[in-house]
Amino acid sequence: MAFLDKHAILEKSPTLLLVFSLLVVSVGGIVEIAPLFWLENTIEKVKGVRPYTPLELTGRDVYVREGCYLCHSQMIRPMRDEVERYGHYSLAAESMYDHPFQWGSKRTGPDVARVGGRYSDSWHVDHLSDPQSVVPESIMPKYAFLAETRIEPSQIKALLKTHRMVGVPYTDEMLENAVADYYVQADPEGDYEDMLERYPGAAVSNFDGQKELTEMDALIAYLQVLGTMVDFSTFTPDASR
Ligand code: HEC
Repeated sequence: MAFLDKHAILEKSPTLLLVFSLLVVSVGGIVEIAPLFWLENTIEKVKGVRPYTPLELTGRDVYVREGCYLCHSQMIRPMRDEVERYGHYSLAAESMYDHPFQWGSKRTGPDVARVGGRYSDSWHVDHLSDPQSVVPESIMPKYAFLAETRIEPSQIKALLKTHRMVGVPYTDEMLENAVADYYVQADPEGDYEDMLERYPGAAVSNFDGQKELTEMDALIAYLQVLGTMVDFSTFTPDASR
């Protein structure tokens, strides 16, 4: 057949074959990937997802700095064994305010996408300070120094502003109150109503149990919000998809 004869030209020339294979693969790739940039529902709108509080965001920076993502993923795949172990599979919207995202690529420890609320604050203090004291067989390193590293919000407004520049909807009000919100989240005795209005569902607690604010407070505030923003008892996937 004439058509198949022409095919032989490709098969006899490695260069031509390479060029045409690349062409075919890129057409396939573009058809699959390009629409995601324009589709309205690539990230479906989900109720409850809000920007991180100033203290959570600070804790997130500690998480990134310490490289927790090297051992922990934050991405529950929609497979049965994962969903049974970790809870509802992760939605794109749940990491839409994460810059950079913390999906990770390796699980030496468990996925932590929904670890928020699973343990008490004091469990986290014990576990982070000395993982083997609560999970004897754990190979997680000790992070006791976090409870000795004091923090203050000198850069917090700039940090929120930076996140706003890359698309996180921090309002002017959130920026103005960043310092106050930062302190009040770790002060159950404080006047935290306004902060909760800005950041619904945020945990208010003296996370590490000490008077001074430390990196331990911030990191636990962050861990406790992971996976808690969306209410999965009422969540239904967008039916139009
Ligand atoms: C060398 C790998 C490694 C690193 C780095 C690491 N972890 Fe872990 N982590 C583990 C392992 C293994 C476990 C499971 C045993 C245990 O609970 O200690 C674990 C468990 C946990 C758990 C309990 C999860 C659950 O669902 O039971 C949390 C929370 C956690 N790690 C947080 C962190 C944070 C925060 C950091 C960074 C400060 C961190 N880990 C760094 C290996 C690691």
